[in-house]
Amino acid sequence: MTNNIYAPHLMTIKKMRDEAENIKTFTLEFNNPALKESFAYRPGQFGEVTIFGVGEAPISITSSPAMKGYLELSVAGVGKVSRAMHAKKVGDVIGFRGPYGNTFPFDEVTGKNILYVAGGIGLAPLRSNINQMFAEREKFKKISILYGCRYPKMLCFMDDLAKWEKVPNSEVLMTVDTNPANDWKGNIGVVGSLLPKIEIDLANTVAFVCGPPIMIHFVILDLLKMGFKGDRIITTMERRMECGLGKCGHCNIGEKYVCFDGPVFSYQQLKDLGEEI
Ligand SMILES: Cc1cc2nc3c(=O)[nH]c(=O)nc-3n(C[C@H](O)[C@H](O)[C@H](O)COP(=O)(O)OP(=O)(O)OC[C@H]3O[C@@H](n4cnc5c(N)ncnc54)[C@H](O)[C@@H]3O)c2cc1C
Ligand code: FES
Repeated sequence: MTNNIYAPHLMTIKKMRDEAENIKTFTLEFNNPALKESFAYRPGQFGEVTIFGVGEAPISITSSPAMKGYLELSVAGVGKVSRAMHAKKVGDVIGFRGPYGNTFPFDEVTGKNILYVAGGIGLAPLRSNINQMFAEREKFKKISILYGCRYPKMLCFMDDLAKWEKVPNSEVLMTVDTNPANDWKGNIGVVGSLLPKIEIDLANTVAFVCGPPIMIHFVILDLLKMGFKGDRIITTMERRMECGLGKCGHCNIGEKYVCFDGPVFSYQQLKDLGEEI
């Protein structure tokens, strides 16, 4: 055991599944039994994943904190570390340090309607939060989940979406930007096009928006036009990271560090920091 804060914990890949096109979900277990018991995190937090000999990348924890003993991470194979992770097999060992960052508001939004708007793999961090809310369903009013992807093969967490849809006073609407294989019977259009399809009680709703920057930009514009106040729009920021610990200064927005003060911010906070969304 080392006291080096940059030393990753060893984790074994217990399961791997194809989540969507070029996205895999990994179930990881800590090799250290004490850590397996004690490891705690909150939805919205992330860790730095190490693929030994390749490098590190920040990845959100997508599993629910209620699931003890393991972590799930969903990873798009886009670059050096993520592609090397995709090439791993069940039984291989990788590194993980964390949990890092802040968390989605939970107690602060009890008694409200919750509107999730997610794009692509942006559903991964929200999934942890959604499952926590469904575990304490009585604390919230209506839960609406709007989810969009570029095309049907990119849709993630279809089992979860089917489960969430069945919960009373909850709704799930999905859409794809395009339908190249003509195999999609649902909505076609960007995720913001789902907003007019649901009833929103503006005074009592908090929106959580997560996805690629371009999607976040347009959805926040839609929400502002609808009359949402900036402190009722919660989103996550991505920045290139090194330490993940608020020490190296790679990920700053104004005087804040995305890895330490974020990645979860309200639109109002980002505006006050001078961040263009
Ligand atoms: C808090 C947080 C949580 C995240 N959670 C997830 C998650 O749950 N799942 C997930 O799949 N991803 C997640 N990401 C994104 C992920 O960390 C990045 O995609 C990361 O770059 C992947 O590392 P890589 O080595 O595979 O890719 P890289 O080799 O870093 O390349 C990734 C992409 O960035 C481009 N790029 C490379 N270098 C630079 C550079 N210097 N400047 C600008 N662009 C560059 C590449 O062209 C490529 O398109 C998260 C990021 C953050 C900050
Ligand atoms: S990654 Fe080093 S300060 Fe955020």
